[in-house]
Amino acid sequence: MTDSYDSFKKQIHLLTGVDLDSYKENQMKRRLDSLIERNGLKGYQDYICLLKSDKAKIEEFISFMTINVSEFMRNTEQWDYLEKNIIPTLLKSEGIKVWSAACATGDEPYSLVMLLSKFLPLTKVRVFATDIDRQILLKARDGIYSAKSLKGVPREFITRYFKETDPGMYAISEEIKRCVTFREHDLLKDPYPIGCDLILCRNVLIYFTNEAKNRIYSGFSKSLNKGGILFLGNTEQILYPQEFNFTLISSFFYKKQ
Ligand SMILES: C[S@@+](CC[C@H](N)C(=O)[O-])C[C@H]1O[C@@H](n2cnc3c(N)ncnc32)[C@H](O)[C@@H]1O
Repeated sequence: MTDSYDSFKKQIHLLTGVDLDSYKENQMKRRLDSLIERNGLKGYQDYICLLKSDKAKIEEFISFMTINVSEFMRNTEQWDYLEKNIIPTLLKSEGIKVWSAACATGDEPYSLVMLLSKFLPLTKVRVFATDIDRQILLKARDGIYSAKSLKGVPREFITRYFKETDPGMYAISEEIKRCVTFREHDLLKDPYPIGCDLILCRNVLIYFTNEAKNRIYSGFSKSLNKGGILFLGNTEQILYPQEFNFTLISSFFYKKQ
């Protein structure tokens, strides 16, 4: 693409509210180039004209610019660690406040509810789940999944909380759905909830620049109660956790001091 990426970023910000400055440039440009080509256009400026003339394309842009892939209990060994070593230390009589940030299709918040059901009655389980992508949140609320995304789920949970609706497709039960509140939320600009005991933010930080990541870590630190835990994705690590008042307790788990 020959048009200026800087001017494109400014116009995208005005039109969609998305701050492309905070996303790694090369990775984002590759995705944008393929989106622009897919729409049969030649450059950034043509694409801006399309967005201005067709509002539905704004939703397509937001859905396309990041990858929504998710699965239940992704990296199962980390979920085992969460179950055995983290959740028991966070339990309080009034329940625990949990935020699943950048939750995509909902696999992660629903996995959390199932895990928490081992410790608490479901009436005491509430998970707040957010994502920038309105379309993906509709899917999350529907709660229909392929067998592939359930591969990490223990058999007892499948039997108890899923129903096969079509061959190879499973609907999650209403009692699990009721425990999750989904909301549209941009990690780069919207206010963060406060008083959290546990925050999951997995497989999204890889898209952001270091400067944006640092702002997000600092936001999470303020969101968490003292002793609260931040659970990150497999390839995501905070280089200097103490700068954000965190101590590393085990790979991918950070405790707010
Ligand atoms: C790869 S998915 C991760 C899903 C889930 N956390 C997991 O690990 O399986 C990344 C998600 O980040 C979301 N996302 C990208 N930028 C975001 C932002 N600025 N604020 C909130 N969510 C964002 C995308 O819409 C996408 O659903």
